[in-house]
Amino acid sequence: MRKLFIGFLFLIFASSSFAKFVPDEGMWLPMFVEDMNYQEMKEMGLQLTPEEIYSINNSSLKDAIVNFGNFCTAEVISHKGLLLTNHHCGYGAIQDHSTVEHDYLTDGFWARSFEEELSNEGLTATFFVRMDDVTKKVLNEVTDEMNEQERAKAISEAKKPIIEEAEEDGKYVASVKSFYNGNEYYLFVYKVYRDVRLVGAPPSSIGKFGGDTDNWMWPRHTGDFSMFRVYSDKDGNPADYSEENVPLETEYALPLSLEGVEEGDFAMIWGYPGSTDRYRTSYGIKATLNEINPAINEIGRAILDAMKKNMDRSDAVRIAYADKYAGISNVWKNKKGESRGLKKLKVYDKKRMIEDKLMQWIDQDSDRKEKYGDLMKGYEEAYQKLTEKKALSKQWFFGLSSYASSMVQFAMQNQGIGNIVKSDKSDEEIQEELKKFEAKAEAHFEDYDVETEKDILQAILETLYNNVPLSDLPDVYKTIIADYDTDFEAYVDELFETSIFASEENFNEFLEKPKAKYFEKDMAPELINGFQGSMMQMRAETSAIQSELGKNKRLFLQALRTMNPDKAYYPDANFTMRLTYGEVAGYEPRDAVYYEHYTTLEGVMDKEDPNDPEFVVHEKLKELYEDKDYGRYAAEDGTMRVCFLSNNDITGGNSGSPVLNGKGHLIGVAFDGNWEAMSGDIAFEPELQRTISVDIRYVLFIVHKFAEAHNLLEELNIVEAKHPLPAVEMDKEKKMKKQSEEM
Ligand code: ARG
Repeated sequence: MRKLFIGFLFLIFASSSFAKFVPDEGMWLPMFVEDMNYQEMKEMGLQLTPEEIYSINNSSLKDAIVNFGNFCTAEVISHKGLLLTNHHCGYGAIQDHSTVEHDYLTDGFWARSFEEELSNEGLTATFFVRMDDVTKKVLNEVTDEMNEQERAKAISEAKKPIIEEAEEDGKYVASVKSFYNGNEYYLFVYKVYRDVRLVGAPPSSIGKFGGDTDNWMWPRHTGDFSMFRVYSDKDGNPADYSEENVPLETEYALPLSLEGVEEGDFAMIWGYPGSTDRYRTSYGIKATLNEINPAINEIGRAILDAMKKNMDRSDAVRIAYADKYAGISNVWKNKKGESRGLKKLKVYDKKRMIEDKLMQWIDQDSDRKEKYGDLMKGYEEAYQKLTEKKALSKQWFFGLSSYASSMVQFAMQNQGIGNIVKSDKSDEEIQEELKKFEAKAEAHFEDYDVETEKDILQAILETLYNNVPLSDLPDVYKTIIADYDTDFEAYVDELFETSIFASEENFNEFLEKPKAKYFEKDMAPELINGFQGSMMQMRAETSAIQSELGKNKRLFLQALRTMNPDKAYYPDANFTMRLTYGEVAGYEPRDAVYYEHYTTLEGVMDKEDPNDPEFVVHEKLKELYEDKDYGRYAAEDGTMRVCFLSNNDITGGNSGSPVLNGKGHLIGVAFDGNWEAMSGDIAFEPELQRTISVDIRYVLFIVHKFAEAHNLLEELNIVEAKHPLPAVEMDKEKKMKKQSEEM
């Protein structure tokens, strides 16, 4: 699951619920695995020693786990820095290199040598070096008397020297993160590589088979993988892209297993889960159901429809907007499923039970009462205020809108241009300063289509108008109502006709003759100032409530952990390295139905629909299927396994994570969650919640038989299956032997 929450959105929920301690639930910190989980993992089938999985001084499994681009996970699979991740994680990079002539999204891409690997500006691969508990240092100056602002300031001051020391003058990148809602703090030290190149990707008809229809669903038949390579300077240090760079020599590379998976097999997943809110309270659940998710549903649908209409019209537009569309669509469907799950699984009631129990415990003791007595009342009041201000829905209406409109984003990022032309500098000086905008503009307009942008902006303006009270909308609406008679299309037409931010043509024309006069009449500043102003105002109005919620969140978890001192609580996901372990398992999605734990290539053929772009099957894949040309990648029963399920606890950010067997060999790549348990980020559902992974044998089959990328296979450490080759393969071998004898 790719990271779901788009960076610009600040999470504001307070939370609650407790974690029943079951082996499948929990995203554990590797540092504590030996003490907290190792014994149980061993009983479940882990054969490695604690030292082999997590050692600071020696190379261990953790060294193969990479934070990919700060939004996904990848794993090292060769000693030459080869990374395996999801297709949907590499999607942005694949899109960037695609044109109508070289459409790697549609056709796939395979580098046949190092020289053919494609560089990606801005893409990073982050390797974990170490972590430390720094709670005492961070909270050293914090006192109970401090208010939340004072507390935040003291914490941020205390973090600075810790980070500075850990970074060793730029050798590492360090951060201190809050755990258990501000009750504990940990330092993380990383090495960040900045030259990461695209190596291979199957066509979308494999890597995204089933498209948005199958997304978040089981049974699944997607070969959701792609490959990248980390490059370093000659000494193995991180470096900006350069032809001189060499493939990073990686000490720990995961072996890839052809042994396969069966129900009940031990399975563990390592990766970078982005965000969960398992301790969200019943008040938060209500807000999610009544305010947040409906807002995302409305605005998301409008934006997606506007995009889709244009993507269907032109291949250039389809390619340009592919990644953005997939990202928004992914969140949109996730939130729809989340609401469904929260209701169906009665999460509100479950949270209430926990809260009632906690309040009873608090009421039993006067010290507790003094410390935690106002906790739930605090939650109630804070949410009431946020609801009155419609802050939770507005945050998504405005936030998603300004993210989706590239025009708005570009204008926001480059509004400084106005000050340059308005200054009393000489024409030459102005020209000189404007130069730096040229490259930015070129990159921006590369994936930009005026007609699409017009439709997106019009959809946004109309949707906000229909859903947000006029008094809460930015002033630009007054202009639209008064000067354009509430005709959104007319307003948008004129904006795109005239604004320098709205098209490449206008922008370049302006750069050639930068007249202040021209800029002063520009319609974009009114629009973006309106949006930005509304968001800032909302933030200002709610920041006190947010800190109050933050405090309640911290106290809630503190109280919960004090009430149950023997329970092993795991911290919410926060994009730090975690481990989850469990087993390969199917599930019962509804009455009378059982879902097997795996799918096969037969299922791909069953879903084939040449008239639906989401379900096209590539000719070559069909041939391989018809010839049953699966080689050593076939399962014992002769089928080609495609995806499988396990009960591991993952979330967005875990996308691309390795699924490992008891020996620490790679058996799959995690890429999704299932529809029946989409409320899982708020409450884990042991009976229903599953991780969907692509079987490593399918990955290898595609690399070998489909792509014939023998250069890559040679790098890998493949562990052969113990079972004999299936009958079909035996026949084929015999036939080949006979043929060669006859020759
Ligand atoms: N649901 C997956 C995740 O969040 C993303 C899958 C991308 N595929 C798609 N059809 N949009 O990681």
